[in-house]
Amino acid sequence: MKIINYKKRKSVSERYEFLLGQGMSDIYKIKAYQPGKPIEEVKREFELKNVIKLASNENPLGPSPKAVEAIRGYASKINFYPDGGSYYLKKALGEKLGVKEDSIILGNGSDEIVSLITRIFLQKGDEAIMGDPSFLMYKIDAQLSRANVASVPLKSFRLDLSEMSKVVGPKTKLIFISNPNNPTGTIITEDEVEHFLRDIPPRILAIFDEAYYEYVEDTNYPQSIDLLDGNSNIIILRTFSKIYGLAGLRVGYGVGSPEIIELLNKARPPFNVNSLAQVAALASLEDKDQVNRSKILVREGKEFLYSNLRRLKIFFIPTQANFILIKVGKKAKDVAAKLLKKGIIVRGMGAYNLPHYIRVTIGTKPQNEEFIKNLQTILSSRQEGFNNCH
Ligand SMILES: Cc1ncc(COP(=O)(O)O)c(C=O)c1O
Repeated sequence: MKIINYKKRKSVSERYEFLLGQGMSDIYKIKAYQPGKPIEEVKREFELKNVIKLASNENPLGPSPKAVEAIRGYASKINFYPDGGSYYLKKALGEKLGVKEDSIILGNGSDEIVSLITRIFLQKGDEAIMGDPSFLMYKIDAQLSRANVASVPLKSFRLDLSEMSKVVGPKTKLIFISNPNNPTGTIITEDEVEHFLRDIPPRILAIFDEAYYEYVEDTNYPQSIDLLDGNSNIIILRTFSKIYGLAGLRVGYGVGSPEIIELLNKARPPFNVNSLAQVAALASLEDKDQVNRSKILVREGKEFLYSNLRRLKIFFIPTQANFILIKVGKKAKDVAAKLLKKGIIVRGMGAYNLPHYIRVTIGTKPQNEEFIKNLQTILSSRQEGFNNCH
């Protein structure tokens, strides 16, 4: 097979200067998102038979059996394009959430809805506000629109909504609120959100990203769908990737005013949610048992991890999501690399400006046990021992 060899007479930036146009040099500064390593890749790389992935906040119980059955049932019809309007899924979501279908947009993961929002609303010179650290795609998507990013440091590992509303300027268009916040797992409360919405000018769009909504147990967590009533400057994002266990199929959704949804639909590819994803999501919504089992798994896993981390005197941030941010000390990157060699994939937090931390998805009981066992071994063999952890 002939391998095409691109002539490299000019530097990359020179070659694509015309295509990229203004703001080109800024595009080169964007750091592409680094997802958690896939299980198969780690198996190949380290010649391992068993690998545990605790790096991308997926559901270790797997998808609902009802979703798998729905996919099987639909498989022979994939010669047809999907229903571009996702009629049945939108109808079911509308009924569940108590909103009309024209208030809902479906995306190829909630990731896609973030990028539709930035594409429609941000232009060069506009500003998007977000927490630091928070979910990295907000920054990447805003930068791709050549917008400026105002990063507001977290306060005690929580989004600082009051500071976020203070930095609003004439160019601010979007404010991203990850609630719970990835990677800290912390929430902002109903009271804080109400104050915040009173503080920000109504011309701005606030994006409440609730990818981990179903896991939250804190009773002060806002019921954001109720906030849509009377607030046309809010959009709420949720996903089937986390508790519903459908990360590989890519389905997420946004709920907002019909006018905002109509605007986003202009940029949405016509068949962005594939047929199998639609039927699987619909079946998953009906499987309340699976959702409950997943919640219990995370609740029990949290207790197990908390008690063991306390026993080992390792600092962590109590979480409302299905992952925990853990301080393992100066060489967190090395700790993540050593865990990887043992077949446990976790996320080093260097990209989030938290170089002393790792983020670990709460797994099944045996997975959590394996993680703690290996973490203990790795930390106790380090020269500086556990001392750097807290
Ligand atoms: C806060 C947050 N928002 C959005 C996403 C993207 O989810 P999806 O799989 O729906 O694109 C993630 C995934 O990790 C996330 O943590």
